[in-house]
Amino acid sequence: MMNSVKTSQVALGSLRPTTNSIRVTTSRTPLRSLCQHAGKRTAYITKTSHSPMGAGFQKASFNNKLIERRAWSYNSTRSMHSVATKISSAVTNGQASYSTEATAAGEPTIHAVFETKTGTWQYVVADPSTSAAVIIDPVLDYDPAALAVTTSAADTLLKLVKEKSYKVDRILETHAHADHLTAASYLQNRLTQEYGHKPSIGIGKRIGEVQKLFGRRYAVPQEEYSVVFDKLFDDDEQFKIGNLVATAMHLPGHTPDHLGYKVGDNVFCGDSLFHADIGTARCDFPGGSAHSLFKSGRKLLSLPDHVKIWTGHDYPPEDRKTPMPWMSVQDHKRQNKHLRDGITEEEFVSVRQERDAKLAEPRLLHQSLQINIRAGHLPKPTEAGHRMLHVPLKLKDVKW
Ligand SMILES: [Fe+2]
Repeated sequence: MMNSVKTSQVALGSLRPTTNSIRVTTSRTPLRSLCQHAGKRTAYITKTSHSPMGAGFQKASFNNKLIERRAWSYNSTRSMHSVATKISSAVTNGQASYSTEATAAGEPTIHAVFETKTGTWQYVVADPSTSAAVIIDPVLDYDPAALAVTTSAADTLLKLVKEKSYKVDRILETHAHADHLTAASYLQNRLTQEYGHKPSIGIGKRIGEVQKLFGRRYAVPQEEYSVVFDKLFDDDEQFKIGNLVATAMHLPGHTPDHLGYKVGDNVFCGDSLFHADIGTARCDFPGGSAHSLFKSGRKLLSLPDHVKIWTGHDYPPEDRKTPMPWMSVQDHKRQNKHLRDGITEEEFVSVRQERDAKLAEPRLLHQSLQINIRAGHLPKPTEAGHRMLHVPLKLKDVKW
């Protein structure tokens, strides 16, 4: 294995991890949305080269087109190195994924799997010494036009878990998402059936407030969201992933219950910090607070410079194109559009609130919240045998 990588930055814009050494070239072909916020429907062809060695390109079907990509791998505590990690499963149905190799003692192996329709980074985080693993923020596919639930994204995670022989002990949610449906319950069911070991579904202890609020709003029967999570984490509660120590960090702002999960020198921060060229997550949902998000963001940026912040979403802008799962604390302190060093709370709150006022409602808002307060369990069938979700009508000024 080589231990050096040439650095060359091509067509990615200026905001990228400064601690990386990776050569990336990208070109685009119109295909489908990677970036809902930009309102574009595009996909991409990504070529990632590690020099002088490299993993072979993998080609995968992507709506009858091809994505070419290479796996990139890195030591989770030091800069990227050239140990090429073959992605064990082909990319299918528009899901790009990157595998990593863990290395130093006390640090995890991290698999970041990007779900393109909702711009969500899903993670499988494993202890290499025991193969114990957790899955963070898995996506359940939902087609709002066909009203169809499918499990392609989750099945890709299951395949990865199987190929790596991981034992999944926990499925972790950072919060009740408003833009995608969680696959937590589906995965729990499938993993239990396949391995005879039921992983717990965990979330922050304040989820009850969120469940109550949206349960009432969407007329979800209380018994369908009561006791659906197996573990409610206290602030700063520690737990184990095999021999690794993980910590639940309360990071309110996007939602009041929001957690990040710190594992070694990595924080899976959900919807708090996004890539530096996007900045931060919106704060205009019920219980959200730009003031709280500023404090949560600065809490993350008070961690040591080398700590990696793994984001819950990415919506790559035109000048970057490639979704990126992480940046270091130092990168964010220097480059984050909303929270870099020197930006005051008042300035942040003003920018955040101005931006939030212009954002459209998430495309899957109503469906997501009704499924996610149930921890991904489906609504109980009606007498007619249908599983129903409610969608509020927007009547505006119409009355009769
Ligand atoms: Fe969210």
